Amino acid sequence: MKASSLSFVIAVLAGLVGMSWGIVMAVSHDHAAMPAHAHLNLLGWVSLFLFGIYYRLHPVLDRTMMARAQVGVWVAGTILLTVGVGMIHSGRPSGEPFAAIGSIIVLADMLLFGWLVLRQERAATAA
Ligand code: HEM
Repeated sequence: MKASSLSFVIAVLAGLVGMSWGIVMAVSHDHAAMPAHAHLNLLGWVSLFLFGIYYRLHPVLDRTMMARAQVGVWVAGTILLTVGVGMIHSGRPSGEPFAAIGSIIVLADMLLFGWLVLRQERAATAA
């Protein structure tokens, strides 16, 4: 599967889970998990969909293993960060290592994405 397709499909799944989570919070009047809901929606739905648009705009990059790996690592980091933040805000401090590792993973992966973008834009300027 191309990196863009992977991003779009997983982004929609994350959006569905994040929005359902929002409805559960609203109905139960328990907003404790709000930071985890916000991270899942913004890292999972919004960011992944934006990665997908960039990859779709650059078909050569879209077919690379590196782009697929970038998406896969982002998904893993988002899951870890969301679970960790959710645990912390529901009174389980043992979630801290998950949140810490997840946050480092998404930061490192954003650096990878930045490098892919820089390489792509340099090539576009030179062409
Ligand atoms: C069915 C859709 C959604 C529902 C029912 C919902 C529900 C909620 C609820 C109940 C809160 C807690 C508000 C508070 O305690 O002040 C919240 C916060 C938040 N939600 Fe959602 N949400 C939905 C979709 C989304 C989406 C799609 C995004 C992002 C793309 C998003 C991002 C956020 C953010 C950033 C906050 C934190 C706001 C703040 O700090 O005041 N939500 N949401």
